[in-house]
Amino acid sequence: MDVCDRIIVGNSPPILRVKELIRQVANSDLNVVLCGESGVGKELVAQALHLSSNRKDKPFVKVNCAAIPNELLESELFGYERGAFTGADQTKLGKFELAHNGTILLDEIGDMPLVLQSKMLQVLQDLQFSRLGAKSDVKVNCWVLAATNHDLEQDVRNRLFREDLYYRLNIISMFIPPLRERPEDIDLFIDYFAGQFAQKIESPVFEFSVDVRNFFRQYSWPGNVRELKNLVERLMLLGDWQTVEEELLARETRRINGHELTTHPSPPTPDNLNSEKRAKKKFPCLKEVKKKAVLKAEGKLISEVLRETGWNRKRAAEILQISYKALLYKIKELNLRREE
Ligand SMILES: Nc1ncnc2c1ncn2[C@@H]1O[C@H](COP(=O)(O)OP(=O)(O)OP(=O)(O)O)[C@@H](O)[C@H]1O
Ligand SMILES: [Mg+2]
Repeated sequence: MDVCDRIIVGNSPPILRVKELIRQVANSDLNVVLCGESGVGKELVAQALHLSSNRKDKPFVKVNCAAIPNELLESELFGYERGAFTGADQTKLGKFELAHNGTILLDEIGDMPLVLQSKMLQVLQDLQFSRLGAKSDVKVNCWVLAATNHDLEQDVRNRLFREDLYYRLNIISMFIPPLRERPEDIDLFIDYFAGQFAQKIESPVFEFSVDVRNFFRQYSWPGNVRELKNLVERLMLLGDWQTVEEELLARETRRINGHELTTHPSPPTPDNLNSEKRAKKKFPCLKEVKKKAVLKAEGKLISEVLRETGWNRKRAAEILQISYKALLYKIKELNLRREE
């Protein structure tokens, strides 16, 4: 069992691919961009990259570009000399210098202000820069990883992120899939977080019911692994599954905003006849609700783009960034028609 298997839970095909990629790039020193929704495990993957590399005994330094005010971010990254500005009463090393010989994670890189992006571009060229107020340069040796939950390509198109910096950083791109795309890992996560929390609160491991596990496998997890971890801990502490289930269903309903919940009672099967709870069920199954909501959203967007382009399907496919064939299929599937 290597460090990836030790710290990254999951055996689903997408997670196995992430682990494999970590092993392949671990000693490459190539810049890596980790992307994916909030809570999918980008920071954990960054740690796994560092711990799998031969820099593992050196520092791993994280800078959260979104949490530090813009005017402080530059000094945080590159440090300053004593007297560089009012209040700089002693020299301070920046995160790049602190990460010397190790790894630096530029977290939430999508939130880095444009002015700093141009400086970053220069620094990444040879990892040489000067502290604020310094006369000479310092040169560091560190592995640069960046993480974001933005769609950076989209940000580049919208001129929110410099294209040249994007290409310099994105030598290796790692996409960490949302939890809803790896439901086969959910049981592993429940057991892992339950075990961890039981140790922390010194209690025996809590048994999660089949109902809870089934629900967890179908829920859409907008907060991804972080949300699952928090829920496991809350349930272990408060055991209030009924309340949690209601909250999650309400949240799911809000999320697919605008979608009307239609109740289709399922035909009686031995399974749902036996279960009083299922017979009383007020809601359709989540997968069905989700699918309908997605189709509805797709239909709305595609119609708008088609209207905008005067039903020029080639142009519409370009804007939607899908193939022409896929667009034709969608038009048919969604039964879209040109308004006269
Ligand atoms: N595969 C995994 N195995 C074990 N723990 C995981 C896994 N993925 C995520 N976690 C845990 O879930 C929590 C969220 O992960 P992490 O902070 O790495 O997410 P993130 O993608 O960086 O989120 P954000 O975009 O909000 O910063 C952490 O407690 C992390 O340890
Ligand atoms: Mg993070």
